[in-house]
Amino acid sequence: MRPAWFHLAKGSYPRQARVGVGELYEEHVSRLGFTGAVAMLYHRRGATEFVSVDPELSPPPVAVKRLVALDATDPSALPLALYENDDLTLLWSQRQQPHPFAVRNLDGDQLMFVHSGTGLLETEFGSLSYRSGDFLYIPKAVTYRVIPEGPNEVLIIETRSQIEPFDIGAAGRHAPFDPTVLEIPDPSPHEESEPGEFPVMYKRNGRYLRAVLRHDPFDVLGWKGDLFPFRLHIDDILPIHSERSHLAPSIGGIFCGDGFVVSNLLPQPAVSDLEAEELPDYHRNAEYDEFWCIHNGGGLFEDGGQLVYTPQGMVHGTTEEVRKAHQQHRREGDRRTVTAVGVEARKPLCPTAEYLKQIES
Ligand SMILES: [Fe+2]
Repeated sequence: MRPAWFHLAKGSYPRQARVGVGELYEEHVSRLGFTGAVAMLYHRRGATEFVSVDPELSPPPVAVKRLVALDATDPSALPLALYENDDLTLLWSQRQQPHPFAVRNLDGDQLMFVHSGTGLLETEFGSLSYRSGDFLYIPKAVTYRVIPEGPNEVLIIETRSQIEPFDIGAAGRHAPFDPTVLEIPDPSPHEESEPGEFPVMYKRNGRYLRAVLRHDPFDVLGWKGDLFPFRLHIDDILPIHSERSHLAPSIGGIFCGDGFVVSNLLPQPAVSDLEAEELPDYHRNAEYDEFWCIHNGGGLFEDGGQLVYTPQGMVHGTTEEVRKAHQQHRREGDRRTVTAVGVEARKPLCPTAEYLKQIES
């Protein structure tokens, strides 16, 4: 367990953070995401009321329908890279046609989140059918093809280090999902074929390098080990909540690796104690960039999906108008309705030139 640092309090503050804040405006400044040293500041006024702010510090949400990925029209093309740092790249795929070759990604593990569409992920371990709301995990260097049934929209989290389960400690080994709900492929080798030419595209440093095998790479008759693709549906993730306190978003962690955490926001009961804060307080996540893919806006975000990015250390949170309106209409028994997938990145993420061109046009 991490040693606690001294906690002190000065001036005006509620007895417990996030509870009975009253007329004060609470802002959460934290290190190591929401798990390290922390200060709650109690302002006289709302902390996000900027007169002006550089858009690099506070970029507006991006509707995913504005994005154009080349793989939408060219089945041989790569998805659109959105953001990247030394630890990961975030990409957006709009694939409509199957990969016309096998792929081996040498740039990292991939965790795909299917925002919309259905299809089949073919791997050398076997195949997985997918639908909207699925996470698909493909380990680095494993052979695969995506075979969509019509248009797909997929967020791809490509990471240099291995993607592993996020440990939420005291919640136990069956939270936030029972590991046995993972769907693991069964071997499903292609019919044996004559020797020929079987192209494999190796993705390396963001581009494809072509190789041609004499035999079909999807010929694996069996496998064993602890490295394999899987499918996990977001409905099978069981949210952890509190009726008396707004829990920090790290409670929604599901996967992690070097320099990143993947988390989610899921429909669940709202905080029912009307004295306690239900909406996130203003916060400065001092050491993690935040990227959210809003999968289902639940009436709070635009339909169709949005991408929301906040650089580390930048104050953000619900505006004062929304906060006041929410507080007036809030009732015991309310539910949260948003479904979203988030990536917290330890090193600053840089938007790619192509993504900037699309969102600024
Ligand atoms: Fe945040």
